[in-house]
Amino acid sequence: MLTPFEIARRLRRIGLMGIGRRNADYVLAYNQRKFYPRVDDKLITKRLALEAGLPVPDLYAVVHEEHQIGDLHEKLKAHDQFVVKPAHGSGGDGILVITGKRGDKYRRSNGHLMSRGDFEHHLSNGLSGLFSLGGHPDHLLVEYCVQFDPVFDQVSYKGVPDVRIIVFLGYPVMAMIRLPTRMSDGKANLHQGAIGVGIDIPTGTTRRGVWGTEIIKDHPDTEQSIVGLEIPRWDELLEMASRCYELSGLGYVGVDFVLDRNRGPLILELNARPGLAIQIANGNGALHRLRKVEALKAAGGLSTDPAERVAFARAEFPTT
Ligand SMILES: Nc1ncnc2c1ncn2[C@@H]1O[C@H](COP(=O)(O)OP(=O)(O)O)[C@@H](O)[C@H]1O
Ligand SMILES: [Mg+2]
Repeated sequence: MLTPFEIARRLRRIGLMGIGRRNADYVLAYNQRKFYPRVDDKLITKRLALEAGLPVPDLYAVVHEEHQIGDLHEKLKAHDQFVVKPAHGSGGDGILVITGKRGDKYRRSNGHLMSRGDFEHHLSNGLSGLFSLGGHPDHLLVEYCVQFDPVFDQVSYKGVPDVRIIVFLGYPVMAMIRLPTRMSDGKANLHQGAIGVGIDIPTGTTRRGVWGTEIIKDHPDTEQSIVGLEIPRWDELLEMASRCYELSGLGYVGVDFVLDRNRGPLILELNARPGLAIQIANGNGALHRLRKVEALKAAGGLSTDPAERVAFARAEFPTT
């Protein structure tokens, strides 16, 4: 058994960043509060992305008030599939992935049918702030339901995998793909039971994964290998992620993508306080990489060109 001292030394050696350091040295030091609304409200993020020419899932409707809920059934008549999400939600809470209709009822991605009454009740809870940061009243987005790229068919359980890239001062430093499981109800959030799989930045291929506290090499539901998957359109993903620095104004930001089989990479949302499990999913710490970018900054060598920043990341940040 390792002593706590030995464990601490080992974590320092691989450059594992803890929550205290992330908050003090990165989130607080590089993210100005005035920019938080850009990422904390998914409606604002969507607008900014569109203005910057970055693709996002189409917006079908926005619900601001209770009386608009009843009108939605009619408004969404043309769409068999859609996703409802609280604008200020996080961790997948309150998100409804609707994959079909049966008569009056809506089918959720886990296969269960939801009555109109339950659907309206859920939305009403969302408006009242049940799922939003701090419990403040919220608004809801209804958007296009992403049809995920078939390359992930074998490693997703009834849901849409997403790709998370951590971007520091415009440089993509670490990436993972999150795969939904039976537990995670169509969502790719780790706390809902999804798997995180580290992606090697230079090649865009997966290495190993983490599910809860377990290091894994195959998907617990489909039993297919999660190692060596090639993420399609990797270069585009890296460049779009890099451009989210200018879009958000945030020095330390997590960018979430989905890969749509028809529309290609779409930006789902940005996070000002991205979680730390991405390091476990990669089996690599983030600190050494962050410090390389800080060294560039100290030398006056930061680039304003996303393509150049991506080239630097591809050369410097392999998953070992
Ligand atoms: N438009 C969509 N189509 C399909 N699945 C979606 C869509 N939006 C979200 N999801 C699923 O829900 C998860 C969480 O969505 P996200 O927008 O990142 O909100 P949160 O802030 O709660 O993480 C995604 O990782 C994805 O699996
Ligand atoms: Mg998310």
